[in-house]
Amino acid sequence: MPRFNRFKAALGQFFQVAFCIFDRKFILMDIKKCLTTRRSVFPEQFTAQPVDKKDIEEILTMANWAPTHKRTEPWRFKVATGRAKDELAEFFVRLYKETTPEEKQSGKKAEKTRLKVDKSAAVIAICMQRDPKERIPEWEEIAAVAMAVQNMWLMVNAIGLGGYWSSPSFMDQMHRFFDLEEGEKCLGFFYLGHHEEESTTGRRDDIANKIEWL
Ligand SMILES: Cc1cc2nc3c(=O)[nH]c(=O)nc-3n(C[C@H](O)[C@H](O)[C@H](O)COP(=O)(O)O)c2cc1C
Repeated sequence: MPRFNRFKAALGQFFQVAFCIFDRKFILMDIKKCLTTRRSVFPEQFTAQPVDKKDIEEILTMANWAPTHKRTEPWRFKVATGRAKDELAEFFVRLYKETTPEEKQSGKKAEKTRLKVDKSAAVIAICMQRDPKERIPEWEEIAAVAMAVQNMWLMVNAIGLGGYWSSPSFMDQMHRFFDLEEGEKCLGFFYLGHHEEESTTGRRDDIANKIEWL
């Protein structure tokens, strides 16, 4: 390549990188590292630092890129922060008391339920909106939502935040708290926050035991 063209290419690359960094589009983390260091980080591990709304928007924008059969895009998210989060904590405690037989109730457990919400910077309800025409089976819609959650979980890891997907038994009662649309279901909650811990080593059984080569 003539020297001038090489210079032009290098200059172009420099500006591309500079613009990418400016736009927060730089590579946040190597993809393998992001996949293997993604962990469930629990509210007890969160610091009191709030999470920027911009970060939550970015996380959910990445969720929106999940694959989806017939483009139904069934994932719905309800983000509770501030007062809405306090109300959610109250509601969770009420549900715990309602759904646990009196003799089995423990004040400690009720308090733990509240604390989990209190300690989170945001609690994001993970919902699935069934296609109104039911063009695809429900399991495919749930699978698409799970893929959206994986996207968001990886993004959470990439930007140094923590969280986990919680699926309490009372999530089928969430129509009493949210204005769920016809065909919309709550599949759990993503507790989100800042943390200062190193990623723990995950544990998985060997993939070789789960593959059949034909
Ligand atoms: C659909 C789904 C529901 C989950 N529900 C819960 C839950 O209710 N409580 C909990 O402690 N962890 C829950 N988890 C998180 C798992 O416990 C966690 O992913 C698993 O232990 C592996 O740990 P890792 O995420 O750090 O790799 C859930 C994960 C998924 C995918």
